Amino acid sequence: MKKLITPLLIALPLLMSAQQTVDERVEEILGRMTIEDKIGQLNQMDGRRDIEKVKQEVREGTLGSIMNIVDPAVTDELQRIAVEESPSGIPILFARDVVHGFNTVLPIPLGMAASWDDALIETTARNTAIEATEKGIRWAFAPMMDIARDARWGRIAESFGEDTYMAGRLAVAVVKGYQGESLTDPMSMAACAKHFVGYGDAEGGRDYNTTSIPPRTLRDVYLPPFKACVDAGCASIMTSFNDNDGLPSTGNRWLLTELLRDQWRFKGLVVSDWGSVAGLIPHGVARDKRDAAQQCIVAGCDMDMSSRSYLLHMKDLIEKGEVDVAVLDAAVRRVLKLKVELGLFDNPYARKVEKSEIYSDSVLDAACRLAEESVVMLKNESVLPLGENVRRILVAGPMADAPYDQMGTWALDGDKKHTVTPIMALRELCGDKVEIEYIPALTHPRDKSTAEFKALAKAARKADVVLAFVGEEQMMSGEAHSLSSLDLQGAQRQMLEELAAVGTPLVTVFMAGRPMTIAPQVEISDAILYAWHPGTMGGKALANIIFGHVNPSGKLPVTFPRNVGQIPIYYNHKHTSHRAKGTEGNLDNIPREAPQSVMGHTSSYLDVAPSPLFHFGYGLSYTTFEVSDLVIENKEVTADGNIKVSVMLKNTGSREGTEVVQLYTGRKTASVTQPLKELKDFKRVTLAAGESCKVEFEVPVSRLAFHNRDMVPAVEPGNYTLTVGTDSQSGLRTYFQIMN
Ligand code: NOJ
Repeated sequence: MKKLITPLLIALPLLMSAQQTVDERVEEILGRMTIEDKIGQLNQMDGRRDIEKVKQEVREGTLGSIMNIVDPAVTDELQRIAVEESPSGIPILFARDVVHGFNTVLPIPLGMAASWDDALIETTARNTAIEATEKGIRWAFAPMMDIARDARWGRIAESFGEDTYMAGRLAVAVVKGYQGESLTDPMSMAACAKHFVGYGDAEGGRDYNTTSIPPRTLRDVYLPPFKACVDAGCASIMTSFNDNDGLPSTGNRWLLTELLRDQWRFKGLVVSDWGSVAGLIPHGVARDKRDAAQQCIVAGCDMDMSSRSYLLHMKDLIEKGEVDVAVLDAAVRRVLKLKVELGLFDNPYARKVEKSEIYSDSVLDAACRLAEESVVMLKNESVLPLGENVRRILVAGPMADAPYDQMGTWALDGDKKHTVTPIMALRELCGDKVEIEYIPALTHPRDKSTAEFKALAKAARKADVVLAFVGEEQMMSGEAHSLSSLDLQGAQRQMLEELAAVGTPLVTVFMAGRPMTIAPQVEISDAILYAWHPGTMGGKALANIIFGHVNPSGKLPVTFPRNVGQIPIYYNHKHTSHRAKGTEGNLDNIPREAPQSVMGHTSSYLDVAPSPLFHFGYGLSYTTFEVSDLVIENKEVTADGNIKVSVMLKNTGSREGTEVVQLYTGRKTASVTQPLKELKDFKRVTLAAGESCKVEFEVPVSRLAFHNRDMVPAVEPGNYTLTVGTDSQSGLRTYFQIMN
């Protein structure tokens, strides 16, 4: 674009007729661009560099998007340079990893998922957008919807857990919250569904590693959450680092074009992950950046995040005819379209704020509610909630006051000064009614020192109850932070053993970025709360639960293994020919020199029971619920119909509580092997003590489709089981039939 048209761009809104569609506007802008302008739009770079250099690149028109600048004075200045001084006058799109909250940090996504509350997730995502847009961010790299069945993988923290339906439903809630009613709203940001695709299946849980997901599993397990986001209007998609069966995602034309664009009709922008265009070189499928750029743009990756491969080589590739100019134009159109939709051509600057919502009361309150709902009570031997009789509490452990760690991974904009830790909240809540002694004993979770343990035991003897806060640091999970052991680190196990030996009731609270292997600690504790990394308001949420001001309602979004050797372990595994059963997993009971067959022939380990420690969907409450009267209205349905189901839910305890009613379907016989059961719907229901209500579900039969023997997505006629309960392993069961 010639510089002389810059004033024209500034006046663009006035010249554009109100009727002009987004596409027309895009074409008009595209029509004025030079090849250099176009290539510049496909280049995204980090802004955390020498700012003068960044300004110069903006001036030269070589940046379409900049990441990680969160100072509106700086984004505004860069924007001014872009529209007034760059050759094309096209505004910059500012992006950031806004993964779970912005300044106000929400629970890590795995914790959010434990709430099973898509409505609250949408509300808090909206708050997040309001905070982030205040700082000039209009594009967020979230939601992350990788299916994660291996807790060694550090990024399980960023995921919604192991279930496909749940990941899709919660990801859509984030998309809706971020994008709001309209992207043009200055409080909205474009969402980015990531990582496309299969990244969560990294071999051995080692981040960035290869995946070997077969085509049917890819389509039935890993792709549907992305499809759900595409259908919900998600503005962008990020490719993944992994190769699947030999093809790195960023250069996979089948994935990015044939499936995403041709079949799913995705109209948004595809961005690579950080350096993943050039990542084709170490993957060993591209010779150099030029080759990588050619492969990725042809595959359908529009924007190159931080590798500069497009910037350096696209012009030559076009000139030599190795990339068709139509391919370049298609990618540029998608960048321009998003910028038009966000209203950047009308007002590129950060929105002006009359009253800041950052850390506002309502934003903090919603974050606290989400943190409360994300806490899963795994055990309670009549200790919790603490009652009037509790006069003296010992608070122990390295996570009782870890304001940084409790924010979890990807809390880039959270300020630990705003974190409410458990000890702060407990002191505030108890005032002078309860005496609190606080002995952290360990300075951080990896601390191996046992020096304080004697004093700890002495204090525990004097206390009515011990609250021990253990877990893992923020640094133990997230990108490139995988672990081979999921046991508590440092001297935490020993600390809990010392405390348990005293005999004072022991409540153990875990804060972690993943399911840890906690069987011994469950055994010796009287109550267990699993709080994940709960974010800014985590301490308050926990204090409210511990004292019964809030009744826990979280349910596991992921299976807890007994030991690392059980991984991968997930509830919706396939039927096998030798179903796991029978073995107790006790090596001592195995006879010596007996015939090989005495152990039976089942798909189990000899040294650990086949069941997990805690299964998907599990979580306790201070009250009890009973599910009864399962009625299926239409026992015979057609593929285009809905299954109408109801149960009665009764709060059979003595206080108000919330239950998550879960609906699973399964089938024994199909053209291809099937999971034992699969989650197809869920509802959170709050009932007063003694209250009952009818809980109704209407599940579209199309939700039961899978890729059949011909690899066609289809609802197969036949007999199905349907279970409604309060976790994945119990509930009332009935049958229905899908008719031809
Ligand atoms: C790499 C991560 O994989 C991705 O999730 C993130 O959005 C980008 N870096 C940008 O920071």
